[in-house]
Amino acid sequence: MTRRFTLIGATALALLPMGAFAQDKELVLYCSVDEEWCRAQSEAFVRETGINVLMTRKSSGETFAQIKAEEGQPRGDVWWGGTGDPHLQAAQEGLTEEYRSAMLSELQPWAVAQAETSGYKTVGIYAGALGFGYNSTMVTENPPACWNDLLDARFADDIQVANPNSSGTSYTMLATMVQLMGEDEAFAYLAKLHANINQYTKSGSAPIRAAATGESAVGIVFMHDAVTQATTGAPIVTVAPCEGTGYEVGSMSLIKGGPNPEAAKIWYDWALSASAQEIGATAKSFQVPSNGSAATPPEAPKLADIKLIDYDFAKYGSSEVRAALLARWDAEIGALPK
Ligand code: G6P
Repeated sequence: MTRRFTLIGATALALLPMGAFAQDKELVLYCSVDEEWCRAQSEAFVRETGINVLMTRKSSGETFAQIKAEEGQPRGDVWWGGTGDPHLQAAQEGLTEEYRSAMLSELQPWAVAQAETSGYKTVGIYAGALGFGYNSTMVTENPPACWNDLLDARFADDIQVANPNSSGTSYTMLATMVQLMGEDEAFAYLAKLHANINQYTKSGSAPIRAAATGESAVGIVFMHDAVTQATTGAPIVTVAPCEGTGYEVGSMSLIKGGPNPEAAKIWYDWALSASAQEIGATAKSFQVPSNGSAATPPEAPKLADIKLIDYDFAKYGSSEVRAALLARWDAEIGALPK
């Protein structure tokens, strides 16, 4: 199998780096946030510890599938970032290691709750609300404000969202609709929405990049991903849907039996620190960090102002429910003709 790793190496030894006395000199990182943040985070770790990072960026569902395929012969050490549901499923399926970091005491309650739900096999590293963004040069009248507005025929073939099998963002949307409407109603909504979808992408944030360049009018994404495009000057307006919406607890897990367990714990503890969590904003990722002392970027959508559902992470991150919803999506939505 060919593997596409990015090697982020130490060029010069920093003064007494954190990992100077560790035996592991490299770390294999599976990264599920946006590429720019994956690189910035890896480079900072190399600078601070002297431990090289072999980084691969894949979406949350894809990374889950890879770790499952590698069960028994794990190639990765840490799975960092991506939506929490597939991290919870990996925990339930015994693919990840229990670890109680001393840093847990610095985290927000929602991040610790994620650890508790999983028997300490995963932990929250950031949070962000689901929503959508539209291109204001393409949508000039009656801006969409609600999930229901996206069913309007004027958006035919003009909305993009990811495939929930590969993308945690899109699975969050699927689970959100089920929690907002009930399962049958949610699938009826998604079947109607299908008429307006021009493409189900692999990665969760790709739809808003398409909206930013005018390839699509609307992208269904995490709100902070829409803000990223707006801050780079694209004519993107970010929407918190009026009916209410779901959110993610972006998570991190240690892969069971990974080749560099010592380096993995050094990354884990470091990634929960306030300073490491402030790197996201420098890479234009505007989630709410889980360390209570980390500065929340001013650009981050304010969760307290958004009508959030009481997302049931234990249920929608369980193997049974996630697998069943994805199978139903494949049968009822993915199989629909275009
Ligand atoms: C983007 C968001 C993250 C999210 C991730 C999930 O990177 O900024 O907050 O966790 O998407 O990616 P996926 O491709 O699995 O939807």
